[in-house]
Amino acid sequence: MTITGTARRLLSGPPLRGGPESLTEHLTRLGPVPTGFAARRAIGELETAGILGRGGAGFPLGRKWRAIAERVAEGGPPAVVVANGAEGEPASAKDQVLMERRPHLVIDGAVVAADAIGADEIVFYVGREHTAAVAAMSDALAVRTAGIRTRVTLVEAPIGYVAGEATAVVHYVNARDARPVTTPPRMSERGVDGRPTLVQNVESLAYAALIARHGAAWYRSAGRLDTRGTALVTLSGPVREPGVREIELGTPLGDVVAEAGGVTAAVSAVLLGGYFGTWAAPADVWAMPLDPAVMRERDLAFGCGIIGLQPATQCGLAATTRIIRFLADASARQCGPCTYGLPAMAEAMERISIGAARDDDPDNLERWTAMVAGRGACSHPDGAAQHLESALAVFADDVASHVDQRWCLATGGRAGGAR
Ligand SMILES: Cc1cc2nc3c(=O)[nH]c(=O)nc-3n(C[C@H](O)[C@H](O)[C@H](O)COP(=O)(O)O)c2cc1C
Ligand code: SF4
Repeated sequence: MTITGTARRLLSGPPLRGGPESLTEHLTRLGPVPTGFAARRAIGELETAGILGRGGAGFPLGRKWRAIAERVAEGGPPAVVVANGAEGEPASAKDQVLMERRPHLVIDGAVVAADAIGADEIVFYVGREHTAAVAAMSDALAVRTAGIRTRVTLVEAPIGYVAGEATAVVHYVNARDARPVTTPPRMSERGVDGRPTLVQNVESLAYAALIARHGAAWYRSAGRLDTRGTALVTLSGPVREPGVREIELGTPLGDVVAEAGGVTAAVSAVLLGGYFGTWAAPADVWAMPLDPAVMRERDLAFGCGIIGLQPATQCGLAATTRIIRFLADASARQCGPCTYGLPAMAEAMERISIGAARDDDPDNLERWTAMVAGRGACSHPDGAAQHLESALAVFADDVASHVDQRWCLATGGRAGGAR
């Protein structure tokens, strides 16, 4: 996998292909981890920096840290920090790369967070399928434990898309059950062991460690538009150098692809934000700055930085079907939309993509996408509905051709033939 980018902060330092950065290399490069007063000051720096979470929802770090710090300061029990490195999203690889190559930066972020909010326990929650990341984090923790004042554990997250959702994370740490928890109170009030809990993506934490060292002004000195800083993205599809890159936020999508050597084949659509994200027509987004605020205005999501290019000669409906089927299978089916809606959506898409559509499949799909949104205990069905809705719009001509002619416009063959 290529790991590169022109705007190196999270991925700065020694060559990235050489495995994890050692503690000595890390400390020589960045100096000691800020603790005590310097860590507590980090909350204000995060607020001034305006950094947003990198796990998908884009919530401001400063606000989250301050809320928990105040709760603890008011006499609540010590808090818990959970570093979320589950990364169950198949189109994303950035968290694995970060943990594999810069494990000490991730650990630093969790240590700063613990000191800043008043936590006495840190849990590193790492997807068990990401074996190199688990090994790198475990090795890095082995040489750090003596210097960390909190209790530290590494929990291998079960395989599954939903296992990285924040309430599922806490549920798994508490009870080894990675299903989202549907009832209040919020985790910032009662999470792991009933204590205030900060669940934070590992990239967010790594960046917090840099901001604690270099300050908010440094953070804000990168970024081309209102949303400042750099971010990790995972680029896939017909591009010369697919893989994880660090980009300056606000860089136009076409420039990111050009920095990755450009496309190697024509592209019919771009998947932004991953499996919960949105398909867009290349002409509509090629010049668009990859800036969460700009994207939100256009009903697109930066999410966890996924950019998937769909080759023009491969069936976009087949790609969508695989994703909707994956999302339907990924839910624990605790709620109505995931039990009935998502499987029905996957079946209708399967029929359309192989040229066996029923007359009412397209209308039903539109109806179901509107029906499932907002009806689950977590946002899983909303993500699936958003994905499908965008596919029906971007691949509208191909949907009509698959349904009416049983013909795939992308492959130029019978629907359901070569993909
Ligand atoms: C179905 C689902 C899966 C998720 N998986 C992950 C994940 O693997 N890693 C992650 O950091 N956040 C994941 N999230 C987002 C978390 O719920 C949470 O918002 C995030 O860990 C908070 O960290 P951040 O504020 O740094 O982004 C997921 C959310 C949903 C709805
Ligand atoms: S909405 Fe779906 S994924 Fe979320 S808790 Fe309910 S069944 Fe599980």
